[in-house]
Amino acid sequence: PFIVTEPCIQCKYTDCVAVCPMDCFVEGPNFLVIDPDSCIDCSICVAECPVNAIVNAAEANDAQRPYIALNARLAKSPQWRSITRPRAPLPGHAEWRDVAAKAHWLEQ
Ligand code: SF4
Ligand code: F3S
Repeated sequence: PFIVTEPCIQCKYTDCVAVCPMDCFVEGPNFLVIDPDSCIDCSICVAECPVNAIVNAAEANDAQRPYIALNARLAKSPQWRSITRPRAPLPGHAEWRDVAAKAHWLEQ
């Protein structure tokens, strides 16, 4: 499957949601994940993300690899919800989009 990684945190642009044919995206307070059980590896969401947060799990680098399990776990969290329509990004997205290390800001 494809996975959402760190650049999405505190931004949540949701352009990815608009194109996914399988409604794979699941939403938390300041991050989205992809449900690996729904993703068909079409890859069309990758180019939509303005911060390049979406990668193929099979091609994840060392920093991205922990997000494979994180996507799988949060996609099944009872507090997280399926998101099928894009909406406005988080209010602080412009300040956060170029911040490299934001993993500790993730709200679960
Ligand atoms: Fe959806 Fe395709 Fe992206 Fe998987 S790769 S999350 S199926 S758009
Ligand atoms: Fe996140 Fe990029 Fe989608 S910032 S919500 S993965 S468009």
